[in-house]
Amino acid sequence: MAPVDVTSTTQWMKLVQHQLPGTIAELFANEPDRAVTWQVSAGDLWIDYSKHQLDRAILTALLEVAKAMDVAGWRDAMFSGKPINTTENRAVLHTALRAARDTQVFVDGADVVAEVHRVREQMAHYAERIRADAQITDVVNIGIGGSDLGPAMVTDALWAFAHPRLRFHFVSNVDGSDIARTLRHLDPARTLFIVVSKTFTTMETLMNAHTARAWLIEALGPAAVPAHFAAVSTNLDAAADFGVPPEQVFGFWDWVGGRYSVASAVGLSVMIAIGSHAFEDLCAGMRAIDQHFRDTPFESNAPVLLALIGLWYVDVMGYGAKAVLPYARELARFPAFLQQLDMESNGKSVRRDDRAVSVATGPVIWGEPGTNGQHAFYQLLHQGTQIIPVDFIGFAAPGHHSQDPQIAVAYREHHDVLVANMLAQAEALAFGRLRPDSPHRSFAGDRPSTLILAPALTPGVLGQLIALYEHVVFVQGVIWGINSFDQWGVELGKELAAGILTEVCDPGEADSDRDSSTAAAINWYRRYRAAD
Ligand code: F6P
Repeated sequence: MAPVDVTSTTQWMKLVQHQLPGTIAELFANEPDRAVTWQVSAGDLWIDYSKHQLDRAILTALLEVAKAMDVAGWRDAMFSGKPINTTENRAVLHTALRAARDTQVFVDGADVVAEVHRVREQMAHYAERIRADAQITDVVNIGIGGSDLGPAMVTDALWAFAHPRLRFHFVSNVDGSDIARTLRHLDPARTLFIVVSKTFTTMETLMNAHTARAWLIEALGPAAVPAHFAAVSTNLDAAADFGVPPEQVFGFWDWVGGRYSVASAVGLSVMIAIGSHAFEDLCAGMRAIDQHFRDTPFESNAPVLLALIGLWYVDVMGYGAKAVLPYARELARFPAFLQQLDMESNGKSVRRDDRAVSVATGPVIWGEPGTNGQHAFYQLLHQGTQIIPVDFIGFAAPGHHSQDPQIAVAYREHHDVLVANMLAQAEALAFGRLRPDSPHRSFAGDRPSTLILAPALTPGVLGQLIALYEHVVFVQGVIWGINSFDQWGVELGKELAAGILTEVCDPGEADSDRDSSTAAAINWYRRYRAAD
């Protein structure tokens, strides 16, 4: 049985005794072939992890920690459907969503892969029908968290692959502005709503869904609802009660976490956008990284290596944040997607054995696409007092093309400039440049980054990127001894909001048991709310 507290292992004690081996520049000077040996390939992804503050001895010590914490055993337990989500007693099988049709994984005696493919066929049939239906021009995905971020990110990323007639919109926030801004441009007769909620109890999603239904009924009458609504949920009865015909309710399962669910029916809007074949390519990309993660020795296993490097920074170097900087406008939503994936999974302070963790866990994840970020927050990355490791993500081919040869050349030029900027930023961060005459213009360098490159942002490559990060998060969670697959931390705020809601709508005074700050704010709101 592997330990739960990583700090109790001799491997950890050895790891933390390691000293920094010198600056990144010194590491390169001492190891002339560092650029060649500190690389790993996984699927179509080429990953350069040479610009990091670690040497072979540290990496070996990190790999020993992974072995001591039985990462391989936990990985195999996840893939085989063991209930590793211990606080909810559930299997964790997002990998079954992209498993090949001829494989089998059993949960409670049922082959979940067969179920996955049954729903996938139902989705494909519906998606192809919508794609062929000239009446529908706009698809609105209503969902939040994992029921929004995955489909929104993927649909945006793969816009060049999307059906030319269809436009996609994502409504998530309970702030009425979100749905109001979306609906004002839409024609009810040409709009399809997909209500996505694992539980079908999420307040934001239900409120938006009811508003959308009222808007539709006002224009077209109640008989129009079945033709303009589909739903995705594990709660099939609640979706049917909402008025969605059973053949347009797409199921998934409690062994899929919301933030890991884009390859399930949660990705229905993605499938409508790119078609069922390209959706299979997305899944195949994920599967390629699943195989890599399962079959590759840890020494050249991309998710394991990236997880260990992240762990070194968070726990030993004390770097509490990480920036994800895609040099592709297509991946504008990728940092937000990763925020949920990583921070909802590993933002934990209690271990699986109910004890407090004794090391720092998940970092703050943030980012924006380059080159925009360069003109905003890169100043802090280069010259600030905090060191923030960076993941750069880039592609050899642009994500857009033109039939017009002149525009195509212009786009190629844009892309060359984009990539040159990404490489320059990684170089500047790592190696800096000192100006003895001006400390203000000096760059200390020694700021780490990983470079993740791929030939082009295809559905398959996007699937590979998603699975890569999923497994990084998994490996780190195992080593920290936490359960990466629950999210109890979001519950208290939801519960308190329900109580505060009755008070903000109530003409009396705020509940006297409340803290004085919240009570004062409730009273302030009530005063001005009443005046509108
Ligand atoms: O509140 C957090 C959360 O439960 C996420 O984990 C989830 O992705 C999101 O809410 C939406 O939940 P649902 O799909 O059940 O509406």
